[in-house]
Parts: sequence; C-alpha cells; structure tokens
Amino acid sequence: MREEISNKNLPIGFFDSGVGGLSVFARFRELLSNENTIYYGDLKNLPYGNKSQEELIGFAKNILDFFKSKNVKAVVIACNTSSALAYNAIKSDYDFQIYPIIQSCAKVISELNYTRIGVFATQGTVKSGAYGNELRKYNSDVKVCEIACPNWVSIVEGLDCVSKDDDVKQHVDEMLNFNPEKIILGCTHYPYLLKTIEKYAPKNLFIDPASIFAEFIKKDLKQQNLINDCGLKGFEEFYVSANPKEFVKNAQLFYEIKKEPIIA
Ligand code: DGL
Repeated sequence: MREEISNKNLPIGFFDSGVGGLSVFARFRELLSNENTIYYGDLKNLPYGNKSQEELIGFAKNILDFFKSKNVKAVVIACNTSSALAYNAIKSDYDFQIYPIIQSCAKVISELNYTRIGVFATQGTVKSGAYGNELRKYNSDVKVCEIACPNWVSIVEGLDCVSKDDDVKQHVDEMLNFNPEKIILGCTHYPYLLKTIEKYAPKNLFIDPASIFAEFIKKDLKQQNLINDCGLKGFEEFYVSANPKEFVKNAQLFYEIKKEPIIA
C-alpha cells in the first residue's frame, strides 16, 4: 500500500512543451496554494504538436524520470499532445499518480451532456483522435469535430510570423460550420490566444479546460488523502530544457515567474 500520509508534503510536478501548461498551473495554484510545485517546460523540444509518437514518449519518459528524481507524489501532464500520444505508453512505469489533461477533462465535460463538441488542438492530438475517443467512452452518440491549428503554438511562443488574425479566423470559421455547442481549447497554449479567438466567435462558446482540470486534480488528491494540509504556502520551482529567458517572457500573460528557471 502507498504511504499516503507521509507523501502529503511531497511536491507535484507539472509539464508541457512550453508556457502552455502554466494555464493549468495557475488555476491549480489558486485552488491549492499549500502544495509544493515543480513546473517543467520542454522548450528544447517545442513544438510537440508535429512530433512522432516515439519522440513524444521519449520526452515524457525523460521528464517523468526528472520528476522521479525530485521525489514527487504526482505528475500533471499539462499538455494535450503528450496526454494523447505518450500517456498510455508510460502510465504504468511510475509509482506516483499521473494526471493526463485529455482523459481527465473528457470525463468531466461528458457529464455536461453536450451533443456537438468542437476541439481545437495540435496536429498530433487531432491525428490521434484522443478527444473524440475519450468523449465517446462516456457518450457514444456525441459528435466531435477536431481541427488542428498548426501555427497557434508558435504564435504564442513568439516564433511565427504568419498573420495571427487571419490564421485564427480561418480555423474559427471552419469550426463554426460544424455548429458546435461548445469548443474545447484542446492545447494548453491556446487560451493565450483567446482575445483574438473571441473576435470571431462568442466567448461563451469556448471551454478552457484549465479550471476543470485543476478541480479534477484537487478532487482526486483529496480522495487519495494526498492534499498537503501543512497550512503554509507551498514552493514553486521552474525548470526548462532550454531558453529560460523566452520562457519568462512568454509566460507573462498567465503567470509571473519571479526567478529565471533552471536548465535541467
Ligand atoms: N501545449 C501543448 C498541448 O497542450 C503542446 C503544444 C506544442 O508544443 O505543440 O498540446
């Protein structure tokens, strides 16, 4: 049996290819500020969206081994692409709790009984069909339209020179033809583009899974008796595989990083 009581004070790891996972991290910190937290941005391998499944499994293993060396009690895969293509292959290799964003959020979203759901995601996530597959596990009749937005991560990470507005409008128009009740922003980078996205479709059409995911993790940690109840504010540590300065700059919109991340 797990040593749940003594594990409570151990940190929780979060990872994404870059700043995107901070949308989840920020919501989580609001909910559980006592938790000790470690965030890892894999900027050396960014973007994940066009990488092969084999590559993504390798990246996830490296990062989970890093978190294992930090003696974490849980890891949050705050990256849809990694959840879609790496989670199943690595989930039994570690003895800490692993929370994948797609599988966790699809479960909660399906309780809302929508019948037509749109998903904007990376090429990898869309190709895997992970959102549709997970949503249909709970409701076999739900219609899901998954559209890849290959430039959006680069736009957020400040790497691209395509016209942001034209690119966003094109994908939103395509999605609106499907007539969705809700559109999931199925890449943790996309909420950074919400101001632009909302120029072309009503704000209340979109689901940013960050809050749903943070609530889901909180509930599960509680059930597993893993909540840190020491009453003190938990620490935040940031690591990247490359480009610490870019990380701090791009993070600004969502989270204030007070100290430059360490390269690990
Ligand atoms: N933010 C990640 C996701 O949720 C990965 C984006 C990327 O690096 O392509 O899919």
